[in-house]
Amino acid sequence: MANDKVAIYPGSFDPITNGHVDLVERTLRVFDKVIVAIATNPGKDHSLFTLQERLQMVREVFGGNRGRVQADSFEGLLVDYAERKRATVIIRGLRALSDFEYEFQMAMMNHRLKPNLETFFMMTGESEFYTSSRLVKEVVSLGGDVSGLVPAKVFEKLKYKFSRRGSRAARPRSWGCWERRLR
Ligand code: PNS
Repeated sequence: MANDKVAIYPGSFDPITNGHVDLVERTLRVFDKVIVAIATNPGKDHSLFTLQERLQMVREVFGGNRGRVQADSFEGLLVDYAERKRATVIIRGLRALSDFEYEFQMAMMNHRLKPNLETFFMMTGESEFYTSSRLVKEVVSLGGDVSGLVPAKVFEKLKYKFSRRGSRAARPRSWGCWERRLR
């Protein structure tokens, strides 16, 4: 509807984790609609899951939300996408202090580009504090159990992906927990 309060939750979502799910559910207490917006960067995409797979996982997870959660993708600047969607708020999650610097820079840059667009930060739930898509991929690629950290269907898809690709060969260094950022 025209007066709906719409928030955009952008990210890579490769794959969606329970930390993301928690954030979307809490955002729905304040906003009428949340657009989970998957950023794409053709030619520079090192994602494990294709865009279509990531969109499908988001849709499966939020299928019961009566249209209040929409999965979408965008290319180019987030602020331009937000404008096209007539959204005035970007949602981002903060876990540890290590997230802060990067998030702060992005929020400032986005604000400079479009001063009417606000970034709202939410703290992740405590059980998701240490969860990240990168760590989850690394753990599953090495045969570990991430049930409870990602939706069950996502865990199945991760296991299937790695069983087809082979574990170590398929694991780019950038997924490792030695990376400063753990998205
Ligand atoms: O989950 P991620 O990978 O931390 O999300 C980062 C994301 C997608 C939000 C960020 O890279 C982004 O907004 N990309 C779109 C391009 C853009 O607007 N870049 C300028 C950001 S200041």
